[in-house]
Amino acid sequence: MKSVLIFIVILFVAIQFIPSKIQNPKTDKNLEIKAPKEVMAIFKKSCYDCHSNEVKVPWYASVAPASFFIKRHVELGREWLNFSIWNKYTPKQKDKKLGQIFKAVTHAMPLPSYIKFHKDTKLSQKQINLIQKWTGKIPY
Ligand code: HEC
Repeated sequence: MKSVLIFIVILFVAIQFIPSKIQNPKTDKNLEIKAPKEVMAIFKKSCYDCHSNEVKVPWYASVAPASFFIKRHVELGREWLNFSIWNKYTPKQKDKKLGQIFKAVTHAMPLPSYIKFHKDTKLSQKQINLIQKWTGKIPY
C-alpha cells in the first residue's frame, strides 16, 4: 500500500516536467476584434481565456494533469476562433464565425467545465441577446 502511494507521488512530480505551459504569443493590437464596449467586456471576461492570445492562467491550471486539459482547450479554442487575430480572417471566415458565435453563446460557450471554476463567466440572457444582436445574424 505504501509503495503505491510513493509511486503516485513520484508520478505526480514526474508529470510536472512535461511541458504544458500556455503561451500568449505577442500579437499586433490592430488585428484584435473591434466591438462596442459592452460586447468587448463580455468577450474579455467570458471568452478570452480560450479564444485569444491573452489567456490568464490561474495557479492550479499550471499544475499537471489539469494543465494538460487546459492547454488543450486553449489550443482548440484558438484554432476555432481567436479574437486576437480577428482581422486576419477573410470576410467569408468572419461571417461564418459570427454565425457560430450566434449559436455557441446560447448553450455551448463558455465550456461548462470552465464555468464550474469561473462562475461569473456564465452568460446571462441579457448578455446572450447583446452578443447575438451584435453578430447581425438572424435567428435560425
Ligand atoms: C474554457 C475554454 C473556452 C471558453 C472560456 C470559451 N470557449 Fe469557445 N471553444 C472552446 C473550445 C475547446 C472549442 C472547440 C470546440 C469544442 O471542443 O467544442 C470552442 C469552440 C467555439 C466556437 C466554434 C465552435 C462551433 O461549434 O461553432 C465558437 C463560435 C466559440 N467557441 C465561441 C465562444 C464564445 C463566444 C465564448 C465566450 C462567451 C467562448 N467560446 C468561451 C473553448 C472555450
